[in-house]
Amino acid sequence: MVAQEDVIELAKRRGFFFGANGAYGGVAGFYTYGPNGAAVKDNLESAWRDRFTVRQGNMEIEAPTIMPEAVFEASGHLDGFDDMLVECPECGESHRADHLTEDNTDIEEAESLPVPEVEELIREHDLRCPSCDAALSGEPVEEFNLMFETSIGPGTGQPGYLRPETAQGIFVEFPRLKEYARNRLPFGVTQIGPAYRNEISPRKGIIRVREFTQAELETFIDPEEDEPPLHEVEDVEVTLYPATEQEDEEGEAYTTTVGEAIEKGVIGSDWVGYYLGVAQGWYERVGVDMDRFRFRQHLPGELAHYAADCWDAESEVGAAGIAAGSSGDGEEPRDGGDWIEITGFAYRSDYDLSKHAEHSGESFTVFKQYDEPKTVERAAVDPDMATLGPEFGGDAGAVADALQTLAERDPDAFDANEVEVEVDGDEMTVDSDVANFSVETVTENGEHITPHVVEPSFGIDRIVYTVIEHAYRTDEVDDEERTYLALDPEMAATDAAVFPLVSNDDRLLDLADEVTGDLRAAGLSVEYDDSGSIGRRYRRQDEVGTPFCVTVDRDGVEGDDPDTVTVRERDSARQVRVPVREVADELDALLDP
Ligand code: GAP
Repeated sequence: MVAQEDVIELAKRRGFFFGANGAYGGVAGFYTYGPNGAAVKDNLESAWRDRFTVRQGNMEIEAPTIMPEAVFEASGHLDGFDDMLVECPECGESHRADHLTEDNTDIEEAESLPVPEVEELIREHDLRCPSCDAALSGEPVEEFNLMFETSIGPGTGQPGYLRPETAQGIFVEFPRLKEYARNRLPFGVTQIGPAYRNEISPRKGIIRVREFTQAELETFIDPEEDEPPLHEVEDVEVTLYPATEQEDEEGEAYTTTVGEAIEKGVIGSDWVGYYLGVAQGWYERVGVDMDRFRFRQHLPGELAHYAADCWDAESEVGAAGIAAGSSGDGEEPRDGGDWIEITGFAYRSDYDLSKHAEHSGESFTVFKQYDEPKTVERAAVDPDMATLGPEFGGDAGAVADALQTLAERDPDAFDANEVEVEVDGDEMTVDSDVANFSVETVTENGEHITPHVVEPSFGIDRIVYTVIEHAYRTDEVDDEERTYLALDPEMAATDAAVFPLVSNDDRLLDLADEVTGDLRAAGLSVEYDDSGSIGRRYRRQDEVGTPFCVTVDRDGVEGDDPDTVTVRERDSARQVRVPVREVADELDALLDP
């Protein structure tokens, strides 16, 4: 398995990604994608959009990345989106408490414990600073909110936050989005865009950064009625690592089918199971090595504040060269590698929509039409304020609302002469006659329900990293060692490179120009390169993962095979001679078989 450092070095050398702001010393946790990385990331996002937006018939939106404080008060992020922070007294480095290791063992449970218990855990294990080895047992632990705060507008402004997940931009727009979906469940909304987290200890490379890209799908369902099309995925084989296996010392991940895992209750939600099946095929398509991949269920203490159940897709990548076996975010060392979470599949129930309804006062429900109208008895109080009498003054409306709520919840309360209600925090006693309580028989055509949410949430940067690392190969060609990326053509930054064999023969340069133009006109992305030895030019394209190199040599402009070029395939390094007029069609067929 290749070490992360080697991949990071190649990524920098070949323009995939590198630490941002280098001219000013750089700031940890921010990366720039170079030309090849930006192209791979774009290809990955297109493949995601194709599978999770277009082919699922979902709607895609693009919401702002800065949102007002009220959104995160409602969502729970202001209170609950914290990591446990420990600052080293010796070197001043900050660490996440759950990343401190003792004998290479994570104390992952620290993430879900209250501060005093985390401090106790650090004392008990005599944990030390990963940077300088100083003892941390006497240090206080602090809750650190991961959101970046900003101020909207001049002056003191209005507090705002950079969104820590794209999801909230979908949830807050639900009242309008449900109209676009014509008030019919189920429907899905997707969004691809940046999310920001002020990570305590970002890693080298793009695995844990402070600005990253998420591709999220929020599926709104009626939990009583809506079923996913399970027949599409029930035979798909998946490797699962359920919570029970993780809690058992002998437990391990095993392979089964989505259908069987749902039938046996290993996957508790049909919808989550459905998306694991869909995603399995997508990871294969983009080039994740499925022998280094699993779905791991969250342990009960690991669940996010909004999640009722959650499975992570994890890929195994080469261990980072920091303290051997150190890991995080559910990663654990295995055979020298680290498991990283690349996607979370959460059943978020009605948590988000209910919270936004409660905090905003807007309606976050959909009207569910009954098949047949239903006749129901509805308890009601007299809504006519006049009957409440002058003693209630301007509060008459609020009192009437409180009485109506009581009538729906506990109609028997009105059998007594007086009823008690709470209005604006004050207890009030109201004469039952004044309330004018009655039970009416009404016909209802439907009811307002708050949909539940099923959410696959993909971390694009971690998948880009995985796809590059899992494609990393070394072999020997012409007695020389070479490194190449066996990227799927759909992911590769460039479809083909065109080389004139030498740069001092106009006939070769002209034909190479013509071939480049033809291929570009056919819609292929092509790099033209006439500098350096041909061997070096091949090596460069191999390292970038370009599937085909087209070389114009002398035989192609004179001799027995005029108007031909050679086409070299990246992985085998084999070359075939192809007539110039057939190159575009030939490559098109090879790139998209
Ligand atoms: N809306 C749900 C949500 O945000 P999450 O598990 O916190 O769930 C989803 O994040 C995905 O985003 C993760 O599976 C991971 O791939 C990616 N991610 C989270 N934090 C990240 C970070 N600091 N750097 C890079 N990717 C990150």
